[in-house]
Amino acid sequence: MTKNDAVCKLKQYDQLHILNFFDSLSENAQDELLAQIELLDISVLDRLEDSSKSKRGKFEPLGALTLDEIAQNEAEFREIGLNTIREGKAACILLAGGQGSRLGFEHPKGMFNIGVTRELYVYECLFNNLMNVTDEAGSFIHLFIMTSESNDIETREFLEENKYFGYSAEYVHFFVQEMAPVIDDSGKILMTAPDTIAMSPNGNGGWFSSMDRAGLLPLLQREGIQWLNVFAVDNVLQKMADPVFIGATISSGCTSGGKVVAKAEPNERVGVLCTEDGKPSIVEYYEMTDEMRTQREPDGKLSYNYGVILNYLFRVDSLIETLDKNLPLHMAHKAVTYIDENGKTIMPDAPNAYKFETLVLDMIHMQDSCLAYEVVREKEFAPVKNKKGVDSVDTARELLKKNGVKL
Ligand code: UTP
Repeated sequence: MTKNDAVCKLKQYDQLHILNFFDSLSENAQDELLAQIELLDISVLDRLEDSSKSKRGKFEPLGALTLDEIAQNEAEFREIGLNTIREGKAACILLAGGQGSRLGFEHPKGMFNIGVTRELYVYECLFNNLMNVTDEAGSFIHLFIMTSESNDIETREFLEENKYFGYSAEYVHFFVQEMAPVIDDSGKILMTAPDTIAMSPNGNGGWFSSMDRAGLLPLLQREGIQWLNVFAVDNVLQKMADPVFIGATISSGCTSGGKVVAKAEPNERVGVLCTEDGKPSIVEYYEMTDEMRTQREPDGKLSYNYGVILNYLFRVDSLIETLDKNLPLHMAHKAVTYIDENGKTIMPDAPNAYKFETLVLDMIHMQDSCLAYEVVREKEFAPVKNKKGVDSVDTARELLKKNGVKL
């Protein structure tokens, strides 16, 4: 791309400031910046406008397969799930492309040592949990790890050095998600250096299209993988490839499933699995009216009772049908280091910038049906999001201890 091409591309979106330092750069740095501009997908700015216009439909409550119902049929579900795993029909997708800005740890979150008297990495907790299942099934499961350009190399090196914590390297695959530009409050794309555009991972919703772009779909087909279990890296009690969950979802005939926990109280800040215009959907806590928050069923339970914990099961054939559809774009307000108009680096303490993100929860609305599958919060949900307080290292340690994990 020439400078003139860059000017044309940026002018259209009123982003010419990206070239402010161009003339003072070395030839190499100029080439680097032009290459970034060439790859830059500025159309996200248009899509954002579309997304902000898109209205939500009519929400209605969706019941869950409850703990009692699961317990009554557990043996049958487990058998179906274990057979699915043994036949190689299920695989896992670990979403690990996030930046973990709230935790403030300068490495990939999976590398965080949550141990107290010994080393116990977040990744180690996940592999240990996965191996509980593969030991029971007597066969490994393909595990696809989504990283981002910011943490790919470090993640691969860390896992290799630690020999995948005992898991079979042959079954571990990596793919890299896409990046999106970061904008300031007035819609201008930020720069982190005179020759570098501020970019951030584009959210966890693009994982299946990133797998497609990475050329992994033929592998799924070759291996006969029909179900994908997708989950977050930062829940140290994460139960992945849970055979009972897989068996229950298959038995239900639904094209997807989502693990949910009963809400602790009506105002809990959690997205709730429900239906929207008759299709499965997740309503965010801030989208719920007071009436929705407090509405109850005849048995006394909240009507919108089941919060999602970012552990979903998708049928591959249904996912393929969604590949040509755009997910809504969300804006996340975050603190991002940037250079000002004089080239001075500014490191803000408070959110100053917006990142563009698609979210995996929006993929649920593209499915025909979704089984809400209830799990016990204290046994399966210990997210490490913040340094202190709610969903922090301390709360996750407490929950690990309660579940008999030596720290
Ligand atoms: P979060 O929404 O908690 O984001 O991710 P985050 O980037 O890890 O943390 P903060 O918000 O900056 O503190 C939930 C899950 O989705 C993955 C994360 O790695 C985590 O497993 N994720 C998030 C991605 O894989 N890619 C992304 O672009 C964002």
